Amino acid sequence: MSQPAASQALAPSPPRHVAIIMDGNGRWAKARGLPRNLGHRQGIDTVRDIVRACRTLRIEYLTLYAFSSENWKRPETEVAGLMDLLRLFIRRELDDLWRNGVCIRMIGDRTKLAPDIVQLIADSEAKTRDNRTLTLTIALSYGGQDEIVTAARRIAEQVAAGKLQPSEITAQVLENNLETAGIPDPDLVIRTSGEQRLSNFLLWQTAYSELIFIDKLWPDFSAQDLADAVIEFQRRERRYGASE
Ligand code: IPE
Ligand code: IPE
Ligand code: MG
Repeated sequence: MSQPAASQALAPSPPRHVAIIMDGNGRWAKARGLPRNLGHRQGIDTVRDIVRACRTLRIEYLTLYAFSSENWKRPETEVAGLMDLLRLFIRRELDDLWRNGVCIRMIGDRTKLAPDIVQLIADSEAKTRDNRTLTLTIALSYGGQDEIVTAARRIAEQVAAGKLQPSEITAQVLENNLETAGIPDPDLVIRTSGEQRLSNFLLWQTAYSELIFIDKLWPDFSAQDLADAVIEFQRRERRYGASE
């Protein structure tokens, strides 16, 4: 068996988990004189391409920020348009995702969603639950602060019920009570559209994620841009607070 070249042997592993803040649909539409919802519609095509690219790049977990807990502040027509696109995406893509080994999960506040969307999500999760090629988590009506507050409340209930001592509360206990329990933390977070902030996305889980900000607007983001971000990620040195 031939020896791998030194560079190959040392090549850092690709990210297991990529999380993406899909931003810039509105500006993409505005630049073309189109309504914002057409930007969101175009963004759906990018989602399909990126999910496919993750399989090619052997990324195991992809988390997409689709709608934040603050996005409910947007005009009713925009919110309704986004929810319609979500319905369309699930109905159109579910069979294909299932056949390709994608496991779908949703994180976020389901109580604010329309009952038919909650049902569609539950059905998609049930249908794909045994798939292992790629776990696609959709953050919908999601806020990182809400998620931590809910976890704290659940832990407090366990303490109040005498099932847990305050001294037993560790980072691991908190993690187990987050909606992302069982999913490794993101290695890489990508945000498109040039904004450089997390906007309440995975606040706990991104403690040591590498962040890459890309100027392109989400509808213009391509599989090649994802591959380039993975290469940049592989060049970075992750230290986790250690000195070497
Ligand atoms: C991201 O695009 C999609 C959602 C937040 C739902 P935006 O709608 O935020 O687009 P910009 O930032 O206004 O361009
Ligand atoms: C973050 O984008 C949420 C999603 C991409 C779903 P926003 O466009 O809502 O974030 P801000 O308002 O620019 O921080
Ligand atoms: Mg935005």
